[in-house]
Amino acid sequence: MEKIKIVTIGGGSSYTPELIEGFINRRDEINVGELWLVDCQEGEEKQRIVGALARRMVKEAGLDWKIELTLDRRRALKDADFVTTQFRVGLLDARIRDERIPLKHGMMGQETNGAGGIFKAFRTIPVIMDIIRDMRELCPDAWLVNFTNPSGMVTEAAIKYGKWEKTVGLCNVPIRYEKLCKQAMGIAEDSEELFTKFAGLNHFHWHRVWDKKGNEVTAEIMEKVYSPDSETEFVGMANVMEIPFLYDQLKDLKVLPCTYHRYYYAADQMLSAYLEQYKNHETRAEKVKQTEKELFELYKDPNLKGKPEQLTQRGGTYYSDAACELISSILNDKRTKMVVSTKNNGAIADMPYDSIIEISSIITSHGPEPLNWGKFDASIRGVLQAQKAMEELTIEAAITGDYGRALQAFMSNPLIKHGESAQILLDEMLVENKKYLPQFAGKIHELEEAK
Ligand code: G6P
Repeated sequence: MEKIKIVTIGGGSSYTPELIEGFINRRDEINVGELWLVDCQEGEEKQRIVGALARRMVKEAGLDWKIELTLDRRRALKDADFVTTQFRVGLLDARIRDERIPLKHGMMGQETNGAGGIFKAFRTIPVIMDIIRDMRELCPDAWLVNFTNPSGMVTEAAIKYGKWEKTVGLCNVPIRYEKLCKQAMGIAEDSEELFTKFAGLNHFHWHRVWDKKGNEVTAEIMEKVYSPDSETEFVGMANVMEIPFLYDQLKDLKVLPCTYHRYYYAADQMLSAYLEQYKNHETRAEKVKQTEKELFELYKDPNLKGKPEQLTQRGGTYYSDAACELISSILNDKRTKMVVSTKNNGAIADMPYDSIIEISSIITSHGPEPLNWGKFDASIRGVLQAQKAMEELTIEAAITGDYGRALQAFMSNPLIKHGESAQILLDEMLVENKKYLPQFAGKIHELEEAK
């Protein structure tokens, strides 16, 4: 097996031990020569701590992989085969602002939904463009495997504007849902007895399920998981509050939702619950900041040589299953069925051909081949198209720094109150994110002058 070079940007993340574990578990399929963990100055301390743990994990596994730590992205990218991205511009403090400022104005703030998600895209997309510029020069054949949120929008920007066709967007949510479906049907986690098919956008997708005999079991799972009479405890995602869906509405959809649909289908209850968290300084980002501190304390222990159990309490747990399986499937032409963000190419009939959608796909050596989904019912078609339009406006604003486009993105987002409130919120968030938004510098200056 040929040795490969992998570069992880945002390598100082607390999630990195999971990625390392994922590669170790697939050592027979992926022959890692070098793994470079790249971070920026602000993330240097974390990178040093998690990098040392990564080296201990690899040594413990008896492997001779080179783990390199650097702040020099260009040095790392030279001749890379796979570049994975998991960085957070502005670190967790930026996420705290994304969550808290909208809530202060009585609107949902979340890291990928509402105004918070739009601002995360504004901060992230210019950096992805810079990374692609470097890749074009230093590793023109590499695959870009993106995890950075908002994963779907970042992937669309990379493909449409960066023209990096070999980009695949990933998320752990579908993996969690596959497990949930198996739990509901009383099937072992590693069994292949169910066939699931997902379609939609990142954090905005639906799925259907069939059993081995070809019977569709979507309605049965719906009842077992979401019926108010269900007696089974299902473990959801750690990062999204499990406010119940309206069962009558779900039944009528006839497809299963993902947890993020709560922000839309149960918008009023979610907002009240999150306003409570805001009051108590218990927003998810604030909690995660504490969890991170604890994780890094654990990582510092020189006797720790594996991924600590506490890491599974993070919302993104299982992300390495997605990343490492994707890489293996491309390298070995395994044709694994996975859910990825990729070009629609007609798989969802109601969506533009060049839209990046999240869809069950067969992963080949030439990338994902999406499985055909067909049309959505009117109950989904409208919201899906509207959400995609909001994403397009957000990406355009992130690339151009055009204030009008940014305002239109806000006006198209269902979690933002429309009218003057949208503009007040947008202006405040622009000023608060000044350091990370060079593309909006002119407008931010104007807003500050007008104060
Ligand atoms: C889910 C999402 C990820 C997100 C994570 C947040 O897994 O799919 O996109 O990054 O949750 O988890 P956290 O523990 O940071 O709140």
